[in-house]
Amino acid sequence: MRTTESLSELRAIRKSSKGTFGLVPTMGALHAGHASLIERARAECRNIATSIFVNPSQFSAGEDFGKYPRPLQKDLDLLESLGVDVVYLPAVDAIYPPGYQTWIDVETVSTPLEGQCRPGHFRGVATIVAKLLNSFLPDRAYFGQKDAQQVVVLKRMVRDLNFPVEIVVCPTVREPDGLALSSRNVYLNSEERRSAAVLFRALSTAKSRYDGGERSAEVLREVVRSVLRSEPLVSEQYVSAADPETLSELERIENGVLLSLAVRIGKTRLIDNFLI
Ligand code: PAJ
Repeated sequence: MRTTESLSELRAIRKSSKGTFGLVPTMGALHAGHASLIERARAECRNIATSIFVNPSQFSAGEDFGKYPRPLQKDLDLLESLGVDVVYLPAVDAIYPPGYQTWIDVETVSTPLEGQCRPGHFRGVATIVAKLLNSFLPDRAYFGQKDAQQVVVLKRMVRDLNFPVEIVVCPTVREPDGLALSSRNVYLNSEERRSAAVLFRALSTAKSRYDGGERSAEVLREVVRSVLRSEPLVSEQYVSAADPETLSELERIENGVLLSLAVRIGKTRLIDNFLI
């Protein structure tokens, strides 16, 4: 496995590699969710690359950029064991040098949900992913359904700007009690961790109602809300039943629905979703 901080070295490695090239962008603090993306990439591509970059521009003021976990050696050991070929570890100054002023704004689909709670977040995500796609020139790039709106935003960007890459979306990896794996789960104390299972319970309860024939989006939103309210440590930020492509809130569900939610548990913010 080769690691590099240098864009010119990365480009030389890319140029000399033969066959399909898969990219898994990450912010590190890797877990089995990230590993599942890498395993999928390994099954589909001859060369696998990962980036680890905690991207400051996707954190709002007051968010956890400074304290975001950065267990670099542990991450590199995991990537090596997963058979990754190249790891790119750029410095913040190399990505955003003095004078940097170019940003990608994917307009409508960045606005609701996470965009509402985290102003500027998707501008930062779209910009860093565009830079990574231009740096690696991958045939395929792998993302998790865990961050459903991120996938919608990035697919829109790739179509609108003609990036010659296939976006591959991988299922959410969960703990045995249903909690979606997240680098932020380490912030939860044991009581908070126990109550965090309510996110999955709430989405599962709504899905059972859908499976039983319920097609009112508002009824499903209310089912999610009422299950969330059963956990006193959990405070809701949003509950959504939206069109999976436009992300506009639905009234009746006709062609599928993205059920998503964001909550706070203590100081920790968690998101989850089911695509039905
Ligand atoms: P990060 O949170 O490190 O996640 C990297 C990738 O892993 C994302 O595509 C995310 O959706 C996926 N992922 C996280 N948890 C997952 C889980 N439980 N199951 C499956 N996939 C999971 O997302 C980012 O970083 C950044 O925004 C990034 C795209 C790297 C741009 O900075």
